Amino acid sequence: MKVLVVGGAGYIGSHMVKMLSKAGHDVSTLDNLSNGYKDAVKYGKFIEGDIADAGLLNRLFNENGFDGVMHFASYIQVGESVEKPAMYYRNNVSNTQILLDAMVKHKIRHFIFSSTAATFGEPEYTPVDENHPQKPINPYGHSKLMVEQILADFDHAYGLKSVSLRYFNAAGADPEGELGERHIPETHLLPLVLQAASGRRDSIMIFGTDYDTPDGTCVRDYIHINDLCSAHLLGLEHLAAGGDSRAYNMGNGQGYSIKEVIDVAKKVTGVDFAVKLGERREGDPARLVADASLLQKELGWKPEYADLETIVRHAWAWEEKYSEWGKGS
Ligand code: UFG
Repeated sequence: MKVLVVGGAGYIGSHMVKMLSKAGHDVSTLDNLSNGYKDAVKYGKFIEGDIADAGLLNRLFNENGFDGVMHFASYIQVGESVEKPAMYYRNNVSNTQILLDAMVKHKIRHFIFSSTAATFGEPEYTPVDENHPQKPINPYGHSKLMVEQILADFDHAYGLKSVSLRYFNAAGADPEGELGERHIPETHLLPLVLQAASGRRDSIMIFGTDYDTPDGTCVRDYIHINDLCSAHLLGLEHLAAGGDSRAYNMGNGQGYSIKEVIDVAKKVTGVDFAVKLGERREGDPARLVADASLLQKELGWKPEYADLETIVRHAWAWEEKYSEWGKGS
């Protein structure tokens, strides 16, 4: 298939581009490089540009008969979204609509969307399945839920078929060591923990130790980046085979506490880095674990790297490599 990956220079997008290309698809990346890196696009064509640029999209869609579009070009920081909601609604919602409008105009009917567990807000029960009420508690979650709604309406009115995948905690790195996580600033737990192990930072701070969980720290469902990408590929194949629009929760169904992540990281790296105990971070649910059985049942998705140690090992291989040549970034 001929696939456009929007945001293909970012953490998840770059792994997706590699997987698509290795699976024999013809891939193009469109990325404005606001949070991505051109050198992370190791496969296919690269076009520097923004999804807000309708003229560029029209030219691209005229010149290429894309079979589908995968969309990873979003802002992703919950805290930032509370401070700068305009930025989040503009990029994550308005600009996504510009992309969808261009797809409708050019009759490109298959769309894979990166959604999030944040669309559920504070979980009423776990594991969180697709029937769980969606009540976001921050602009980031709202922005993603709005696009889910737009997609349902665009399917009904224009026949645009989509698969939305609600990520829990994306983690890990390319098992071949070619790609990994490079957020600036980095806010996610595992890369920060590994930066403490590599010496790029002095310590890791645990945000809150008084949660109602077995060891008092927050529990999350970490999913390997390649398993996450394989679900996108299955989603595209499902739509290409004439399948209906769907929204799936995606995780391993297994929760690990922050302390457990740190213990595994100490074991994998062999470094006894410093751990500080801090206050709770605003807006963190105690426990966030996915029920991904629908995705498994309907698309035949099977995580290949479900155990935390493998996820940490791959992320560590990347951190060891990147902390050498990525100094200062
Ligand atoms: N944490 C720390 N110390 C740190 C960084 C994080 O203790 O230095 C904790 C957080 O407080 C949280 C856990 O580690 O309890 C995981 O935090 P992350 O920031 O790595 O991930 P989140 O669970 O907050 O975020 C994920 C996705 C978001 C999504 C959110 C839904 O990355 O995109 O789940 O709630 F919005």
